Amino acid sequence: MPRFSLGHMPTPLQPLQRITSYVGGPRIWIKRDDCTGLATGGNKTRKLEVLLGDAMAQGCDTLISQGALQSNHARQVAAAGAVAGLKVHLVLSDAVPDRQADYARLGNIQLCRLLGAHVQVVPGDSDSDALCAQLAQDLAGQGAKPYLIPMGGSNGIGALGYASAFAEIATQMHALGEPLDAVVLATGSGGTQAGLMLGAALMQWSGQIYGVSVSPDYALAEKRVGKALDEASALLGLPTEVARRVPLIVDEAFKGPHYGVPNAATYQALELAARQEGVLLDPVYSGKGFAGLLAACAAGGLLHGARSVVFLHTGGAAAMSVYPEVGATAILA
Ligand SMILES: Cc1ncc(COP(=O)(O)O)c(C=O)c1O
Repeated sequence: MPRFSLGHMPTPLQPLQRITSYVGGPRIWIKRDDCTGLATGGNKTRKLEVLLGDAMAQGCDTLISQGALQSNHARQVAAAGAVAGLKVHLVLSDAVPDRQADYARLGNIQLCRLLGAHVQVVPGDSDSDALCAQLAQDLAGQGAKPYLIPMGGSNGIGALGYASAFAEIATQMHALGEPLDAVVLATGSGGTQAGLMLGAALMQWSGQIYGVSVSPDYALAEKRVGKALDEASALLGLPTEVARRVPLIVDEAFKGPHYGVPNAATYQALELAARQEGVLLDPVYSGKGFAGLLAACAAGGLLHGARSVVFLHTGGAAAMSVYPEVGATAILA
């Protein structure tokens, strides 16, 4: 697949020594995909390298995508468009309950605007797929050549970015002489997990790709990951059964009360990563993922007996300013 270079790869892989001692289970590592370098970075950079490669190969001049008001994906699309010289239209839905007015003004949405994207805010129950399709039709009618990127960049093309990320992680762990037993990540629209599973299948690796849901229940996560996985397999000419052999793991216990709403476990994970390791997670995705990692690695958890576990830091700290309660909770005090 053609790629358009956007990020600083390979991203660093670091040991979390203090958290490893705190948890008392496997050695815990962190893969710094929050440091991909594109407008504060994050997991969407790798997906967008392949998606923009496709868009440019098709001669498109406009990107259209969607997400919630604080979408990191949308921010990365806006930045990718700026780098590639493409126009960007974003449909952002007001999908998180009980937030303050700044939620629609600061954090990622502010950065989307700063990066030059055209932002349309819609109610939380809007059909964003239909709105984006209509927008594509309207812009095409005005002579533009739009390229539609689905929620989270999670189709087969986007997922390919994480198949190669799996190889990067496996190569780095191998170079360190470390076994790799599991990769833990926050999972939402499912493309990141699908890509890692595909990479794991291609390398005939038999560890666990351990998804921690940030909102979908198991059935929805299975549908999303499965669809992206099948599409990505088809792009590589691979029978769907090959990647489907990798077991789908989705832990639903840390998704909190709603998408975009953290709970005590999320706040605790955020504080722990910040105060023990100087690592900034985020309250919507990586904080929930890290909460799942801590529980899975602790006594009684599914990964407690593993030797080495990698947490994939998918980014998201750009939304911190619209969660002013983070850091003020003193859960660990
Ligand atoms: C910071 C962050 N982490 C994790 C995810 C989840 O990735 P995916 O949508 O591929 O499941 C997202 C998606 O928006 C994200 O922004």
